[in-house]
Amino acid sequence: DVMREVLGLKDLEAAIKQKLHIEKAIVVAGDSDLSPWVKKEMGRACVTCMKKRLKNGDIVAVTGGTTMAAVAEMMTPDAKLNDLLFVPARGGLGENVENQANTICAKMAEKALGNYRLLHVPDHLSREAYESLIEEPAVKEMLELIKSCRMVVHGIGDAITMAERRKTRKEDMEKIKARHAVAEAFGYYFNEKGEVVHKVKTVGIQLEDLPHVEHVIAVAGGASKAKAIQAYMKRAPHSILITDEGAAKALLGE
Ligand code: BG6
Repeated sequence: DVMREVLGLKDLEAAIKQKLHIEKAIVVAGDSDLSPWVKKEMGRACVTCMKKRLKNGDIVAVTGGTTMAAVAEMMTPDAKLNDLLFVPARGGLGENVENQANTICAKMAEKALGNYRLLHVPDHLSREAYESLIEEPAVKEMLELIKSCRMVVHGIGDAITMAERRKTRKEDMEKIKARHAVAEAFGYYFNEKGEVVHKVKTVGIQLEDLPHVEHVIAVAGGASKAKAIQAYMKRAPHSILITDEGAAKALLGE
């Protein structure tokens, strides 16, 4: 049956680009929902993609999550890149330590033999505390560094999975469900059309900042994330997508 002809990875990349109206997609073999090593393959592809675009003096902002942890794990030093600074993209989003951007950022810098700076902002601050904290010179300086990044690397999650993992408050959980959120990326929740339906309030990179960042790389795979990837990428046509065969095939309805 011609229709069931197996698509090669390059064909999948071309098909994904066309389907999502994005400029660049990289697809690795396998499905990370089923095989844990596939996440590492996405990590490896992401590291290659990062190194191609980075130059000395660059600031790289990263998010947390298990996929970004795989990117950090696969990071290696590069003889030509000896002056990189890694920072977390945003402040606390309610994740456990192992999934936090600070943790991933430090690990990635260590593997790249680069430098890192961390951002310490508690998750659930009162408005007053929040406003005085962002006026603190050390925090202010850090936020300026983050905003001057030349690259952002982030994960994309299924909305409900992420809301549950982050122990989201009941009111917010209800809002996320009522507004049919399907995707989550750096604390923003999106519906199928790619519209923001909820946002975790924190400092650092905001969605509006992304168009001004030279290189934005989204890394997400697994058939279970197909809907989330499709929804989020509507907001990010200039981002590079690194995904896997599982997500790509689910996205194409194979
Ligand atoms: C988080 C990102 O760090 O990783 C989120 O900030 C994303 O935007 C999440 O949804 C995905 O996590 P994982 O573990 O599925 O890679």
